[in-house]
Amino acid sequence: MTTATTTPRPATWSWHEGDFLPTAEARVPLTTQALQYGTGVFEGIRAYVQPGGRELAVFRLHDHYRRFLRSCRLLRIELPYGSDELAEATVELLRRNAAAADTYIRPLGYKLAMLPGTRPGVNLTGVSDAVSISTFLMGHYAPPGGLRCALSSWRRPADGVLPVRAKVTGGYVNSALALDEALAAGLDDAILCNDRGQIAEATTANVFAVLGDRLVTPPATADILEGITRDTVRVLAADLGLAVETRDVPRSELLLADEVFLTGTGLGIAPVVELAGRPVGDARPGPVTGALADRYTALLRGALDDEHGWLTRIPLDLPEENP
Ligand SMILES: Cc1ncc(COP(=O)(O)O)c(C=O)c1O
Repeated sequence: MTTATTTPRPATWSWHEGDFLPTAEARVPLTTQALQYGTGVFEGIRAYVQPGGRELAVFRLHDHYRRFLRSCRLLRIELPYGSDELAEATVELLRRNAAAADTYIRPLGYKLAMLPGTRPGVNLTGVSDAVSISTFLMGHYAPPGGLRCALSSWRRPADGVLPVRAKVTGGYVNSALALDEALAAGLDDAILCNDRGQIAEATTANVFAVLGDRLVTPPATADILEGITRDTVRVLAADLGLAVETRDVPRSELLLADEVFLTGTGLGIAPVVELAGRPVGDARPGPVTGALADRYTALLRGALDDEHGWLTRIPLDLPEENP
């Protein structure tokens, strides 16, 4: 069973505007508005190989599409599909690609072309909309020994500047600059403060601090994307008898925490072992993070009862293996 592919590899088929087509043939025009102005929205969803290797399970598929459609609403991207239809297209796409490997799913909604009669400008109305779904074979990529993170010199934009609660493509310039700065310093990722100097989130993940048997994480009002993994951690924490406080987190509290971890669809639940040049705890992945990460993995791999209905199971039509 193949579960880990560290370099993302585009799958054979993509879905574009209601049709399945070979990924290599999917194109957008140079004049695409979203390419010019960053007026697209996206999601990051994952599907995990289940025991036996002949089935994938997508995690919280409908929650991702509900968030996707909320992001669309902010940019006035009007699609002729609801979350059920997008979920169905995703399932069919995974079936067609029939890859027995962990898969990353990337829906993209975007502003395409100015309609006749629209005045020139950075318009959200009078512009046609388009949608695609591509998938990549991609396994777990967080470094096993934990992440070394910067406290970024870049700030998360305030909601009145560029709302990060929607996954707007243009907003990810902020993440790209912060990640680039961290990588240039030889680190793995960056944690950003908001304009008020409080901890916001990492470049593509939310942040938790462990203080004894309590977890602390910044609120929606801290200029963060409200992550689906962050929400899952609340449930896993309750299972493990851990309290979760959602409140402003000052920088110094994070620097002095027993453990720090990041949560995101891409990273999973990943320990931070170094922050701003200081060890976090004893500079090793901590026990609370470990217990949450193990339970998360068990949930994704079908080893726990799916009591919340979070797994969409897709049997794969694979050739029989040689005896
Ligand atoms: C900026 C940002 N914050 C947090 C997250 C984590 O969100 P989720 O757990 O829904 O993947 C992501 C990833 O999508 C992100 O891009």
